[in-house]
Amino acid sequence: MHNIILIGFMGSGKTTLGKLLAEKINYTFIDSDQYISTLENKTIPKIFEEKGEPYFRKKEHEFIFHAQLLDKCVISTGAGLPCFENNMSFLQQIGTTIWLNPSENILADRLKKDAMLRPKLQEYNSIEEAVSQLLADRTKYYEQAQFIVNDTTTENLLNTISMIDIKS
Ligand code: S3P
Repeated sequence: MHNIILIGFMGSGKTTLGKLLAEKINYTFIDSDQYISTLENKTIPKIFEEKGEPYFRKKEHEFIFHAQLLDKCVISTGAGLPCFENNMSFLQQIGTTIWLNPSENILADRLKKDAMLRPKLQEYNSIEEAVSQLLADRTKYYEQAQFIVNDTTTENLLNTISMIDIKS
């Protein structure tokens, strides 16, 4: 069984780069937020509003549990997913984990455009504060990834991928 798992903060490019990568290496693209949203028939902000964050985290854990059956997939995970329960060790077992880690400035700039789609950002006074505090809390999980891509260009991601034994 082999999958590529992209982890990282909101706005780090997991979905955009994940789709490109999947196409390039002929894997199937799966996004945990998309999966949960389809299952619940609700947007992520609606799930947070109506059922609360603990419910959403439970659904993320269930997603990871089912993901053990996947093969040849690029899996993009919601930014909080690796930081709850023992999800990070589950992720390590189902494939190669890659942390997309652009600078805080880049993250904040990207998140300003669609902050309303991300309920976690509403808990802070500003996007900058959210990025700085949440990232500081979560780095200890993200840095357990097998690979880190700091300058998150498609080219750099593909260079990292070239070091991994991809199934064809
Ligand atoms: C969250 C990140 C979001 C989504 C939810 C919670 C978080 O995913 O799972 O809003 O806790 O940081 P993205 O990383 O795709 O924005």
